[in-house]
Amino acid sequence: NLKESDAEEVTNVSVAVDVFMDDPKRDPGLIIRSAKPFNGETNPRSLTCSYYTPNELFFVRNHLPVPKVDADGYELEVEGLNITNKVLTLEDIKSLPKFEISSVIQCAGNRRSDMDKFKPVSGLQWTGGAIGNAKWGGARLVDVLSLAEFCIEKYEDPSKLYLQFEGLDSDPSGESYGGSIPLSYLLDGNFQAIVAYEMNGETLPRDHGYPLRIILPGVVGARNVKWLSRITISSDESQSPWQQRDYKVFNSSVTIDNVDYSSSPPITDLPINSYICSHENGASVQCGHNIFRGYAYSGGGRGVVRVEISTDRGSTWNVVDKLITNKSNTSLGSWALWEKDIKFQTPGEVEIWVKAVDSTYNQQVETFSGIWNFRGLVATAYHRITCKVQ
Ligand code: MTE
Repeated sequence: NLKESDAEEVTNVSVAVDVFMDDPKRDPGLIIRSAKPFNGETNPRSLTCSYYTPNELFFVRNHLPVPKVDADGYELEVEGLNITNKVLTLEDIKSLPKFEISSVIQCAGNRRSDMDKFKPVSGLQWTGGAIGNAKWGGARLVDVLSLAEFCIEKYEDPSKLYLQFEGLDSDPSGESYGGSIPLSYLLDGNFQAIVAYEMNGETLPRDHGYPLRIILPGVVGARNVKWLSRITISSDESQSPWQQRDYKVFNSSVTIDNVDYSSSPPITDLPINSYICSHENGASVQCGHNIFRGYAYSGGGRGVVRVEISTDRGSTWNVVDKLITNKSNTSLGSWALWEKDIKFQTPGEVEIWVKAVDSTYNQQVETFSGIWNFRGLVATAYHRITCKVQ
């Protein structure tokens, strides 16, 4: 968003190089929300076709050009408090025992366009397709850290430390994409983070972080840093704008003009959410039986225990017929797909509402009024569509 005077200056500069020209080719099935940097969402209809979202249809969220990485020269640095800096090669990472976990990546802005309809917000207008579930293969983060001779027991109070992750993509000033999580996550035996080099059994695609990315099950997409170049153990969070400003949620009376970015913590675990994928708002349906499908997901390893549907604006709720989950302990970051047969008796308009409940009995809120925030993040109110019964 440029001031008019700045825009004039920009038009006078001849742009010699398109910094995005080396970006990979994308599947035409992705719905483009911004071309440069590339941001494309999965058509929600495709999300329920399989438990694991196919690589070529998996949403892409890039802030910067996709780096071109030569695997032979690739190095991952591990550094920080009380450890000597270590440089690991791709071979080093691949020589560690291979683990497979399944985990969702969800952008904090998923469903922003729903919140925008309640009251305008700024950011990419994602519908419900800025989410996907994949099987990731790689080395466990704890094994990578031990290879770098990192030992959590050395720290008196690990709960005050952070793991920072940095990517190889950088802006014109040289600032790299980065994010962090509290180091204490490593103390939770259920938290199975991996340094991934495979996605759904294939080499990690360039758009999703080739050759290595960090996968943090249950944690917001923004911290799952792609093209991983450095892991730092630090007493501070990542100082990148994506940690310090962009992925934070503020009270609904805060605006871009009066925001104090230090007043809210960064998003880490994501709350419960659900979505109707099979039908769009305004879809025509027939009298009689209709199958509705969608997804539900909660962060922090909290599984989805129930998905409920209302066809009478919330007066009564019915549990879906099918809930497809994977409850193994390597799938705690996965989603649930659901299916519900709804029978319409008479022609007319009907609202379909969906909400989900997670294992801590947290549920979605009814409207966006209490959770509206100017960046349109964590849009988790009930998903509602209107269908025309014919
Ligand atoms: N890592 C790097 N290096 N650069 C990025 O722009 N985007 C983040 C995260 N990791 C990003 C990144 C955001 S906001 C999201 S939601 C996820 O990657 C998206 O992952 P995907 O593109 O593989 O779906």
